[in-house]
Amino acid sequence: MHNGTTVTQFIIEEQRHIAGATGDFTSLLNDIVTACKVISNMVNHGALVGVLGSAGSENVQGETQKKLDVLANDVFIRSNEWAGHLAAMASEEMDEIYPISKQYTRGKYLLTFDPLDGSSNIDVNVSVGTIFSILRCPGGSEAPTERDFLQAGTQQVAAGYALYGPSSMMVLTTGNGVNGFTLDQNIGEFILTHPKMEIPADTQEFAINASNMRFWESPVRRYVDECLAGKEGPRGKDFNMRWIASMVAEVHRILTRGGVFMYPMDAKMKDKGQGGKLRLLYEANPMSFIVEQAGGGSITGAQRIMELQPEQLHQRVPVILGSRNEVERIQGYHLEGG
Ligand code: AHG
Ligand code: MN
Ligand code: MN
Ligand code: MN
Repeated sequence: MHNGTTVTQFIIEEQRHIAGATGDFTSLLNDIVTACKVISNMVNHGALVGVLGSAGSENVQGETQKKLDVLANDVFIRSNEWAGHLAAMASEEMDEIYPISKQYTRGKYLLTFDPLDGSSNIDVNVSVGTIFSILRCPGGSEAPTERDFLQAGTQQVAAGYALYGPSSMMVLTTGNGVNGFTLDQNIGEFILTHPKMEIPADTQEFAINASNMRFWESPVRRYVDECLAGKEGPRGKDFNMRWIASMVAEVHRILTRGGVFMYPMDAKMKDKGQGGKLRLLYEANPMSFIVEQAGGGSITGAQRIMELQPEQLHQRVPVILGSRNEVERIQGYHLEGG
């Protein structure tokens, strides 16, 4: 049996080295960890507890909500609203920000989250996850507004994801590298199993939804064409391809063995006036923080994602992330214009 470091012990140990740390942050992370354990338990039990299928509603982005999208959102709110660490929360599944009720104390942090990522996979029993990001509340804790959330990704205090796969995992960064923990179901604790995760700088694997190929812009088309040309093409090597349609699972694969993940800008999105598919504040920014802390890169195409100034709570952006040398190459293609 594993008698290793729990995620809570790990966070306490990390916070000991930060001057002025009050324990507030440790306690907030602990509540997030608890929420992820509850969601993990619901995902594991699936049809046995009646949580699969559609909720019959739509979120602010016009996506059909699954029952588990809504349930996981509720779990996150209930776990994190009572302890006094947060001023407000924002989620994929809530149109507006969620200020902490005055019945609890308001704290100095903001929490954004994607309660269930990859929810189109839930009914077919393929891996899903949860993504979160912690920010400081710049306007103070008394009357948090949407504007308080509109901070560049470089301002994040911490980010992480839980992956509900063959085993459940929690992967975290507080700006001091990336560490992975595996849930031991018997004792109900996430145990440090993947210390100091690092993304290999080179790869022969890429991930993109190729059904959108006809809509891609020329830099992405060029990159993928060159990968597909294999040994005989300009890259001089064969590539492999994966598409899980759960960003958490794709990022986890990239953290484990390298690769590139792309949900790029395309002509179809442009026609609809959308900035991309993935959401900046609770998908792109936290994943970018994790990927950069593991030595990888994360861009929209020409720009670093974490330097974007957000304009809206549910803003969407193109995302290209993963092994550093490949991401730099793709950025170069964008800067050259094709
Ligand atoms: P969510 O389930 O939270 O709405 O996010 C789904 C995202 C992401 O996880 C995945 O990479 C992408 O959407 C899949 O999109 P396609 O179905 O277009 O491939
Ligand atoms: Mn969704
Ligand atoms: Mn998502
Ligand atoms: Mn989601």
